[in-house]
Amino acid sequence: MRFYTTTPIYYVNAQPHLGHAYTTIAADVLARHHRQRGDDVFFLSGTDEHGEPVAQAAEALGIEPRELADRNAERFQQMMPLIEASNDFFIRTSDSRHVKAVQEFMQGLHDAGHIYKGSYEGLYCPRCADFKTAQEVGEGETCPVHGIALIREKEENWFFRLSAFQEPLERLFEERPDFVRPVERRNEALSFIRSGLNDISCSRAGLSWGVPVPWDPDQVFYVWFDALLNYITALKFASEGEDLTERFWPADVQLVGKDILKFHAVYWPAILMAGGLEVQKSLVVHGYLLMDGEKMSKSLGNVLDPFEVIKSFSADALRFYLMREVQFGADGSVSTEGFEQRYSTELANDYGNLASRTIAMVTRWRDGHVAPGPLDPAISAELEPLADEVSDLLDRVELTHALEAVWTRIRRLNRYVEETAPWNLAKDDAQAARLDQVLATLIEGVRCVTVALHPFMPTSTLTLLEALGRPQIEWSAAAFDSTGPGGAVSPLEPLFPKP
Ligand code: MSP
Repeated sequence: MRFYTTTPIYYVNAQPHLGHAYTTIAADVLARHHRQRGDDVFFLSGTDEHGEPVAQAAEALGIEPRELADRNAERFQQMMPLIEASNDFFIRTSDSRHVKAVQEFMQGLHDAGHIYKGSYEGLYCPRCADFKTAQEVGEGETCPVHGIALIREKEENWFFRLSAFQEPLERLFEERPDFVRPVERRNEALSFIRSGLNDISCSRAGLSWGVPVPWDPDQVFYVWFDALLNYITALKFASEGEDLTERFWPADVQLVGKDILKFHAVYWPAILMAGGLEVQKSLVVHGYLLMDGEKMSKSLGNVLDPFEVIKSFSADALRFYLMREVQFGADGSVSTEGFEQRYSTELANDYGNLASRTIAMVTRWRDGHVAPGPLDPAISAELEPLADEVSDLLDRVELTHALEAVWTRIRRLNRYVEETAPWNLAKDDAQAARLDQVLATLIEGVRCVTVALHPFMPTSTLTLLEALGRPQIEWSAAAFDSTGPGGAVSPLEPLFPKP
């Protein structure tokens, strides 16, 4: 099996913030999980460097767009290891190999008659780089995403015949009900298509920061064409001397926030169809991270700094919090208090304490040795279905539900400690075999949930698995009672210490 997943490529008009980290972490969980399953994985992220959003931000700073792009692209690149993103490649759209591939692709669309010269007048948001349709215009002709006044622009340039794809797109959505998830977003995209598709501008005349149109060098391509194409151009040059297109296209799961639904659910499949390529297998759309009830964004200034959280706590904790707190797909609020709460109750207490307590008991009463005897069927029955449940949920990109499935078992194991009271069993020699069983069952339970949690918290889970003497992270090891009987544990520092 192969698995190709992507994040949006992020604008370099500002530095990375939690919203960017969010999508990247979600994609990373999927990538790591598929690697656990032995799949051939390719995980792509990167930066979107051309167009008005970047040109205008650079102008405001009095620097060249390239300088701003270089500066901020580096920050996005540095963010990846900090949030433990295991992307296989990081594409920058200013890369000359991308530029060349965009020109070739677009020349192909032009030669096949999908592009014509025309003129169009409409309301435009320079931050979204988007011409808004009547239903997308906010009150008083403002941008509903950025809250700024829209500009009436008249375009004299090259157009892509999007209207020709109305029917093929409707058919795509009907034939593949899971093409866009969750269903609310699918319905939103479909009703946009059904409301009638106009042709869209695919080049800009008054802008120089972009990919030059090969047949009309006075113009550059509209940034969204340049940007969307990254998902296929990267495959051409990501691996030295090898074109990965055949191996990985169509992408399995493309992740985006709901702000860029139209581009990915409508324009992108139409562009792919026009270019004679398969459309992506699925698009998964998540909601907004909110702070104080509003979309978190640099321009609004309401951001929780991921780098601060990582410095004081850990990347694992941040990843856990984001995937756990906000139901993946819906909007949800995040806050420092909410983070600290989950850190101490769920990570430090429910999970971290269960692990250290269990290891401490085996160390104290059994000199670190786990008995090979049969495990307690009461716990097997509840832990056995976990691996399949989690992989099914992750196949549906239900990240929050997958964590909940694991947490249900962590709570169950904590109750098991209370119910069996190993400290009493330890006082009674006649209960030695029962104590062996309870401890072995707990060790195996903790090991199983930890393998399942590995894609969410790659570092702390490895530390714990090593202390359990079973460092295997491949998915077959997520099954209860799967890595052989007995074994030895070693001491464990607190996984989630108080900062
Ligand atoms: N460059 C375009 C995307 C081109 S993809 C071919 C762009 N860039 S962006 O920098 O504005 O990033 C938008 C993406 O960042 C969102 O789709 C989402 O993935 C993520 N988020 C940014 N702010 C966010 C929140 N407040 N909440 C959730 N996700 C957020 O659009």
